[in-house]
Amino acid sequence: MLNFQTSKLLEANRLLISDIDHTLLGDRIALKELIDYLQSSEIAFGVATGRSIESAKQILEEWEVPFPDLWITSVGSEIHYGEATQVDNDWGEHIHDQWQPELVCEAIAKLSGIKLQSAEGQRTHKISYLVDPTKSPSISEIQSHLRQHQLQVQAIYSHQEFLDILPLRASKGNAVSYCANKWNFSMEKILVAGDSGNDEQMLTSGANAVVVGNYSSELEKLRGRDQIYFANDKYAQGILEAIAHYKF
Ligand code: GLC
Ligand code: MG
Repeated sequence: MLNFQTSKLLEANRLLISDIDHTLLGDRIALKELIDYLQSSEIAFGVATGRSIESAKQILEEWEVPFPDLWITSVGSEIHYGEATQVDNDWGEHIHDQWQPELVCEAIAKLSGIKLQSAEGQRTHKISYLVDPTKSPSISEIQSHLRQHQLQVQAIYSHQEFLDILPLRASKGNAVSYCANKWNFSMEKILVAGDSGNDEQMLTSGANAVVVGNYSSELEKLRGRDQIYFANDKYAQGILEAIAHYKF
């Protein structure tokens, strides 16, 4: 399998961080073009996904994507590096503040139309649910319900179907800012790409951002915002369109 050099995070002067499902993956021809471009460039490469690290590795192997230099997984609640997927324990410690998973489960159990995802969706710093929006309260009602229970957490809604509860300090956006700082990239040297609700905080983190053409309706509200480019093209072709747009 091909491999990006892990030292690229230290050497590169630009960093592309892409969501996996429905952003990086979806169009094999465009994906190949993007990978070729990245490998011939001085751009370091990261993914930011709702998937666990194990599931992210598996899907990238299936799509023949070389392992990235940076892995932001489980909706920004875990960070790993390189081919060896070396874990960033500092991040886990940083986000652990005020995290009370049992109390989150108790509070959410009182709501209708929301059920826990299977065990593989549950992580140390991520509790994930499936939502039936015809039966469940709205996302803002869920957020205020959690606040009424004195739970300082992030409640993130994607694809009108998934609800992720994370520690307050975790999200793809906060993980991107942490990595920018740790690896010495200013935000204008970072391009982030996404398609759905769990990408919102990274798309508004101050980096150059692209919403790919096949985006989910919960991102419509970002249209017209500074530094958020809505591509016409879908999937990896949309990322390539943004690379040209930003002259990245
Ligand atoms: C991925 C994860 C799931 C999460 C969803 C949205 O599908 O497996 O747990 O709810 O992304 O972030
Ligand atoms: Mg996605």
